[in-house]
Parts: sequence; structure tokens; C-alpha cells
Amino acid sequence: MSLSCVALACSPRKEGNTAALARRAVEGFRAGGGRAELLYLTDHKYAPCRACGACNTTGRCVLRDDAGPLFDRILACDRFILAAPIFSMGICAQAKAFIDRSQQFWANRYLLGRGLFEGANRPERRGIYIGCAGTRLPNVFDGAVRVVRYFFKILEIEPVAYLCYPGVDAEGEIYGNPAALQEAYEEGKKLAADG
Ligand SMILES: Cc1cc2nc3c(=O)[nH]c(=O)nc-3n(C[C@H](O)[C@H](O)[C@H](O)COP(=O)(O)O)c2cc1C
Repeated sequence: MSLSCVALACSPRKEGNTAALARRAVEGFRAGGGRAELLYLTDHKYAPCRACGACNTTGRCVLRDDAGPLFDRILACDRFILAAPIFSMGICAQAKAFIDRSQQFWANRYLLGRGLFEGANRPERRGIYIGCAGTRLPNVFDGAVRVVRYFFKILEIEPVAYLCYPGVDAEGEIYGNPAALQEAYEEGKKLAADG
């Protein structure tokens, strides 16, 4: 049975740099024999976490919007690709607001002592982060990488690559960097491999 992958492109620019890299990674994943779907976060409507605390006791978010079904798809897949640019020295707000909604999974694990896949015989889940930043500041990806590491841990995903491309700003500028696109393709292909 081939592995399944969800790629989530989080930039509001659907034709932007991180989305272009995500598309290449998905192509690589499919070339590697896997089944992949590419989703654009901007197509989904979700509210930011209200910090109501309900999930601390129930393990479930009270908000009923597109975040729930989106998390269901991410939880069901074997591999995950998160593509999100740097805005204001961190991961873009669209991605961060969605990530905050995973507080319910944090509550399940750390407050209620329940694993995500208890009893289920799931293969190890793996994932990749893809990011672009307009500048080449030395620490420009640090904040985003920390958030992604946390998010993947909560979702029980082993991060296998952080593909961070600085100095990419204008929409589509990444097409001037074929090596980056090729790297995304190759990493996507590797992600589809079993071992
Ligand atoms: C609101 C906003 C804030 C940004 N902040 C930063 C920043 O702090 N540092 C940086 O290097 N680039 C910053 N950028 C540039 C983006 O990271 C860059 O344009 C990137 O290529 C966007 O990726 P996308 O095409 O996938 O949206 C910012 C862009 C926007 C729109």
C-alpha cells in the first residue's frame, strides 16, 4: 500500500514561492509512488483559538469550522508537508492561527494522557517544512522552525527536512532558483519511500 501525504500551503499567495515549492515536493512524492494531495490554507475558513480552555477537559475544540476536517485529513496521512513563508520574523499568521488550533491535541497528550493514535498500528509519520524569506538575515527561520518542530511533535510527525530558502521575495521569484525546486522535488520523492 503506497504512503499518503497531505501538503498544506499556508501562504495567502497561492501562486507564491512556498506554494510553488510545495507543488514540486508533491510531484516528487507522487513520482516516488505515494498518494499526495495539496491543500491551500487560504481556501479554508477557521477562527483563531479562543483560549476557552474547553479542550483541557474534553480534548476537543469547541469551534466548528474548517480546521476540524483539515486536522482529520492531516491525522489520517502518513506524511505531511507544511509550506509557510516568514512574515515578521516568524511563521506567517495564517499558519500560526491554524497551528494554535492544535492545542486540543496538546491537551489530549499532556493533560489527559491520551496519545493521538492509541491502539492503532500506525507507521511512523514523517514530515517536511518548506519556508521562504525575503531577507537573508542569519536567524530569519529560527522562530518558524521552532514552531514547526513543536507542531510536528504534537501531531506525532518526525521532521526529516527543513527546506529554508532566504532571499526569495517577489511572487514567483523561486522559479529563478531551479536548485531549490529540484531539492523540494527530491525531498518529496524521498518522503514517499518507506524506510
Ligand atoms: C507581511 C509580510 C511580512 C514579511 N516579513 C518578513 C520578514 O520578517 N523577514 C523576511 O525575510 N521576509 C519577510 N517577508 C517576505 C516573505 O517572506 C517573502 O516574500 C516570501 O517569499 C513569501 O513567500 P510566499 O510567496 O510563499 O508567500 C514578509 C512578507 C510579508 C507579506
